[in-house]
Amino acid sequence: MNLKYIKEYWNNSAIKSKINSNIAPTSRDPFLANLERNFIISCLKKKYYCLEIGCGDALNTFYYKEKVKYLLATDNSENLLKIANKKLKKNKVKNLDFMQLSALDINESFINEFDCIISQRCIINLGTWQNQKKTIKDIHKSLKKNGSFVLTEGFSNRLENLNKLRKDYNLQSIKVAKYNNFLDEKKFEKYIKKYFKINKIYNYGTYTILSHLFHPLAIFPKNPKHDSLINKTAMQFQNNELLNSDILKKYSYNLGYELIKK
Ligand SMILES: C[S@@+](CC[C@H](N)C(=O)[O-])C[C@H]1O[C@@H](n2cnc3c(N)ncnc32)[C@H](O)[C@@H]1O
Repeated sequence: MNLKYIKEYWNNSAIKSKINSNIAPTSRDPFLANLERNFIISCLKKKYYCLEIGCGDALNTFYYKEKVKYLLATDNSENLLKIANKKLKKNKVKNLDFMQLSALDINESFINEFDCIISQRCIINLGTWQNQKKTIKDIHKSLKKNGSFVLTEGFSNRLENLNKLRKDYNLQSIKVAKYNNFLDEKKFEKYIKKYFKINKIYNYGTYTILSHLFHPLAIFPKNPKHDSLINKTAMQFQNNELLNSDILKKYSYNLGYELIKK
């Protein structure tokens, strides 16, 4: 997918962003966003000097800055950053700055600088696997020794698993948005192992099955809404490990990784 189109898409999405809302156009599924945020926070430390790529309108960023010493939050959409900066003006804090930067240009900006780099669904917005590999390599270069790369991203093979299961129950396939390029788990793991060791993998299997199989079946033929009580309950089930089963893992089309620089 063309990078210009992706940038335009996110710039246009800024119209829908509201300063005081807990839902952002960049995080349309608020309960999944909440789970992703908890995973990311579980990897942060107060002594960390951090970079976030693709921070969007900073819905999640303000939670991360609470957990670290300093956070430089970046995005390449000037319109989303305008909103992020408005939020910063409202909640003056010393340990957070916003900067316009494409994740494809971090190579020129930083070397061995950060304890931690965060990507919450930014890597899937880089158009191609070639671009994604470049950014992963540059992230490795921008991290200090033993620094961590914390990411939560979409994976195509897992979405295929979910779609096969949905088909068994006569539900339509979920399509990847035009501006996203989901990762292939095998290729991704083979590539990152050159640069990182995997410390943690988090899957959202319970939430995915409840929100993307049971919820649509329960209300069929209506379409499920992200911001619903059923999905909120699904998030609580995931958080409290109420349906914790290895079998559900393979349906988690989003995965969280904590990677440590080799
Ligand atoms: C799915 S949104 C996630 C935003 C935010 N992390 C969140 O969870 O709310 C993807 C973000 O990546 C940004 N993005 C897309 N391409 C980018 C690039 N080349 N460099 C930096 N950010 C990019 C978009 O502007 C958008 O804010």
